[in-house]
Amino acid sequence: MYRTKTPTSAKWLTAAATFGLIAVGVAGAQVPAAKAAPAAVAAAKSSDPTVREIEKYREALADGNPADLWEARGEDLWKRKRGPKNASLEKCDLGLGEGVVKGAYAKLPRYFEDTDRVQDLESRLVTCMVMLQGFSYDQAKRAPFGSPENKSDMEALVAYVTANSRGSRMSVSLSHPKEKEAYAIGKKMFFHRGGPHDFSCATCHAQDNIRIRLQDLPNLTKQEPAQRAYTSWPAYRVSQGELRSFQWRLFDCFRQQRFPELDFTSEGSVALTTFLARNANGGIFNAPAIKR
Ligand code: HEC
Repeated sequence: MYRTKTPTSAKWLTAAATFGLIAVGVAGAQVPAAKAAPAAVAAAKSSDPTVREIEKYREALADGNPADLWEARGEDLWKRKRGPKNASLEKCDLGLGEGVVKGAYAKLPRYFEDTDRVQDLESRLVTCMVMLQGFSYDQAKRAPFGSPENKSDMEALVAYVTANSRGSRMSVSLSHPKEKEAYAIGKKMFFHRGGPHDFSCATCHAQDNIRIRLQDLPNLTKQEPAQRAYTSWPAYRVSQGELRSFQWRLFDCFRQQRFPELDFTSEGSVALTTFLARNANGGIFNAPAIKR
């Protein structure tokens, strides 16, 4: 299971700054702003890492998007015979019929009759790895996110499938009752406040023009910013040297919110994804992208 590294003191300062600045930007947030403010100033002064990041970003752009490497590895994993059943994923039905990858991601999450569940891309890939390739459920969902030392097969597959929806219009259906239910649960999760800071997703993502340091916080309840955000993941993160999936983004925001870890492919994670994907309907999918 992916875990973030033990926070170094510098990281901890940054986190403190994050919460300090949030208290300035968000009315009513229950944060010890006064305590966090000096850390915010300290973090703002050290601009060197930012400059280095921008340089890396420029270099990466000049060479094209390194996400191509994940896409290529994902395509190979999709087509290669693997697992106890020595089968490829080429018969996997992502919603548009067996083996159809083109445009599939733009319609996910969706209801699948064979599992009688709403599934996002990742939970559907797990189903296919179990049913077609014979992996155990735990094996299939074991390594959702990669690190430079340990690349994730799941993330590569996600890069391959999502790349095949580039240019497709987001079109997530809510016609099945279970799709409606997933959306409603996802919405509830988005506004649910809790944890040591009494934060919800909405604390940071339901107002216009909020920023933490240099990062814009998109208002994910509004169509245009929700479209822009959702259609730009997965993304190659220059600062991390990794491709990051939308599920990673959710996982990391749970961490920022100081919530318990989001269980990969769980019903809750699919519901939250359904809420966010549906809010992006009408947007043109354009990822894997590249981000700082
Ligand atoms: C403490 C503030 C905070 C909370 C609470 C929070 N996020 Fe975030 N979120 C961020 C920050 C900061 C970023 C941008 C990070 C970056 O650019 O590296 C972000 C980015 C995102 C993005 C990507 C936006 C884009 O344009 O690429 C999504 C989607 C997202 N958050 C969803 C959520 C969801 C869902 C929740 C609730 C589970 C949540 N966030 C809770 C701070 C927060």
